[in-house]
This record gives sequence, C-alpha cells and structure tokens, in this order.
Amino acid sequence: MTSRWAEDQLHRQAKKEGYRSRAAYKLREIQKRHHIFRKNDSVVDLGAAPGSWLQVARSFTQGRVVGVDLNPILPLDMIETMVGDFTKPEIQDLLVDDLGPVSVVLCDAAPHLTGHRNYDQAVTTALGNDALICAIRLLKQGGNFVIKGFQGDMFEDFLAEVKKHFMIVHLFRPQSTRKGSTEIYLIGKNFKG
Ligand SMILES: C[S@@+](CC[C@H](N)C(=O)[O-])C[C@H]1O[C@@H](n2cnc3c(N)ncnc32)[C@H](O)[C@@H]1O
Repeated sequence: MTSRWAEDQLHRQAKKEGYRSRAAYKLREIQKRHHIFRKNDSVVDLGAAPGSWLQVARSFTQGRVVGVDLNPILPLDMIETMVGDFTKPEIQDLLVDDLGPVSVVLCDAAPHLTGHRNYDQAVTTALGNDALICAIRLLKQGGNFVIKGFQGDMFEDFLAEVKKHFMIVHLFRPQSTRKGSTEIYLIGKNFKG
C-alpha cells in the first residue's frame, strides 16, 4: 500500500509514462498477477474516465477496447468511448448490440461518496451489482471480470454474488492502493455463461 509520498511518486510516474492517472498501475499489477487479458481480447471498461485503464488494456490486446463513463473521455488512439450510465438497461442494450459477447469487462467505477459510512456502502454495493449485471449481459463464456469493491458490511454478499457467475474469484489489493483505503479488487475468471 502506498504512503502519501509514494502516491505522489506514482502520480509523477504516470504523467511521465503518458498515463491519464496513476490508476493505470493498479490494472498493470492485476494483469501481472492474474493474466486477465489475452492477445485478441475485446474489452469494455465501465466507469472509464479519464482513461488510464483503457490505455493499459490497449497495451495488452489487439481486440476492441471500449470505455463508458458518465463524463466524456478525451480521445485516445484506437479506443472507442461512450458517454452514458452503465446502470441503465438502455445503455447496456447499446453495448450488447454494438459489441456482442466480449472477453473482458472492467469496472473501476466509483459513485459520489458522502462520508456517511452506511449510505456510501449501500450506494457502492448497488453500483457493483449493476456492473455485475452489465458484465453478465456482455461477457462471453470463459470471459474475465475485474471490479473494484470496498471491504465492509455488504462486501461478503457481493463477493458471494460474483462467485455464482465465475469459476474462480480472486481478491487482490494492488501495492499502488492508497494506504488506509478499504478498496479491494474482485477478479472473476472464466465466466460460467
Ligand atoms: C475512479 S474513476 C475511474 C478511473 C479509471 N479506471 C482510469 O483508470 O482512468 C471512476 C469513474 O466512474 C464513473 N462512474 C461512476 N458511476 C458511473 C455510472 N453509473 N456509469 C458510468 N460511469 C460511472 C465516474 O464518472 C468516474 O469517472
């Protein structure tokens, strides 16, 4: 886990390496450890702005890479983007119609947090459940899913829900996670379909 000093270092490193945010290093760590991308995988990233996960995904696959966010994502080479709320069935319909089954769904989305623990946990879990629903609609059998979660009262239920749909689920805390954060990534491998 990173200290404030290490965070600043990563921020500078991201700038130097052309990444849009230091979140890039979390996905790089996930790939290094859990091999979620293969050479020709198609990838959808839910909650993708400003776009560093899209940049990392692009570097590991030659397939289509598509990002969705509530906010516009500034253009990136060979990456498609869309403004929209992935929790809305009509946005999910657009993605399913345009892309068909995809190999990898990523979700690093974060809702607006208020600081009220129970409320924030409920909103975060609801967003995670919507991302899981979207991933189930989008993924091909055998596909992989990465989603950000937060450890707390509702985490075990969410983890159990993800486990229903994937043959293997790993929990992973990247080294580049902020010190003191409850953030943890769930990595669902081999979608049951
Ligand atoms: C932490 S940022 C993602 C950073 C990204 N992984 C990167 O590497 O650049 C979280 C994003 O989730 C987006 N988001 C939150 N809820 C969303 C929703 N329902 N639909 C689409 N995007 C959403 C926010 O707008 C925000 O840009």
